Amino acid sequence: MPDRQITELTLRRPDDWHLHLRDGAMLEAVLPETARHFARAIVMPNLVPPVVTGAQAMAYRDRIMAALPAGADFTPLMTLYLTEDTDPDDVTAAHAAGIITAVKLYPAGATTNSASGVRDFDKVRPVLDRMAEIGLPLCVHGEVTDPSIDIFDREAVFIDKILRPMRKKNPDLRIVMEHVTTQNAVDYVRDAARNLAATITTHHLIINRNHILAGGIRPHFYCLPVAKRETHRVALVQAAVSGDKRFFLGTDSAPHTEAGKLQACGCAGIFTATNTMSCLAEVFEAAGALRQLEAFTSLNGPAFYRMEPNADTITLTRGDPVAYPARIDTGEGPVTVFDPGFPLHWRVT
Ligand code: DOR
Ligand code: ZN
Repeated sequence: MPDRQITELTLRRPDDWHLHLRDGAMLEAVLPETARHFARAIVMPNLVPPVVTGAQAMAYRDRIMAALPAGADFTPLMTLYLTEDTDPDDVTAAHAAGIITAVKLYPAGATTNSASGVRDFDKVRPVLDRMAEIGLPLCVHGEVTDPSIDIFDREAVFIDKILRPMRKKNPDLRIVMEHVTTQNAVDYVRDAARNLAATITTHHLIINRNHILAGGIRPHFYCLPVAKRETHRVALVQAAVSGDKRFFLGTDSAPHTEAGKLQACGCAGIFTATNTMSCLAEVFEAAGALRQLEAFTSLNGPAFYRMEPNADTITLTRGDPVAYPARIDTGEGPVTVFDPGFPLHWRVT
C-alpha cells in the first residue's frame, strides 16, 4: 500500500533518547507532555547545578517520579554530567546500581548550563576508559566551543578535532552523537564500524536555518546545535527514514519560558514534547517511509542501549488536522510548543 493510503499505524510505544525535563515547576508542567506518548526517556543532567554524582541522579530520578501524573507509565533513564572531576568509581557504582543509563559530555560552554563541562579531554580519560570497560554509553554534545570557529561549522570541526581522536584512543567506548545536524555527522556515523550511533531531533528534520533567520528572526526555532542549510536537513531525513539501526529519535525537547526565549540574548532550545509524534508521522509520510517510523522511534534506540523495545503499542490515526496548544502553562511562565509550519494530520489515539 502506498503511504498516502495508510490512515492507521500501530507502533511499539516510542522512547525519547534525549530529553530535557528540568526541575521544580517546569518539570511538573513538561513531564506529562512526554509521558503521554513515550515510555522512557534519556534525561539530560544540565540542571543548575548539574547532576554530577550517582546520589544526585538518584535524587533527581525521585523528583521526576514524584512529578508523574497518577497512572502514567514512564521510566526516566538517568545520566550523569561529565566533569573533569568525575570519579570513575562513582560512575561504576551508579551504573551497577541501575541508577544511570549513560554519561553526558558537554564541551564547556557549548550550550545551556554547560559551564561545568569538559575543557581538557585528557582529564576525563580515566572515566571514559572505565565506561568502555563496563559498557556504559557516552552521550556527546558534538560541537567545539572555540569562538574562532563559525557556529555553523562547530559540529563538523568537533568530529575531526575531538571525536575521531577520542574514538581512536578508545575504540571500545560506546558513543551516541546527540542531535546531529549535518551531512558530515550522518556520513561519519554511517562509516563507523561499531560503537557509534546518533540521535536526531524532531525539529532538525523539519527546519533549516532559513526558518530561523529569513523574513525576521524567530527565536522559537533557535536551538543548539543550530539548524543548518537545507542540504543537511535532507541528509538527516534520509538517515532517519532509512531504517539504519544507528539512527534514532532524541527529541532534545528543551523548554524555556517565553521570557527566556524572547530577550536580547535568548535561550537555545525548542520544546517539541507535545506534538513530536504527529510531526514525525508527517515527515515520514512525506518521505514515503511511514513503515520505518517504528524503527526510528521505538526499535533502534533500545537496540543500541541494549534494552528490550516496549511491549505495549500506540496507534497513529490520519484525519483532519490536530489542534495542539500553541503554548503550555508552567509555574515559571508559558512555554511555546514547536510550530512545524504545516498541518498535522496524525494523532496518537
Ligand atoms: O538547544 C538546546 N537546548 N541545546 C542544548 O544542547 C541544550 C538545550 C537546553 O538545555 O536548553
Ligand atoms: Zn539537549
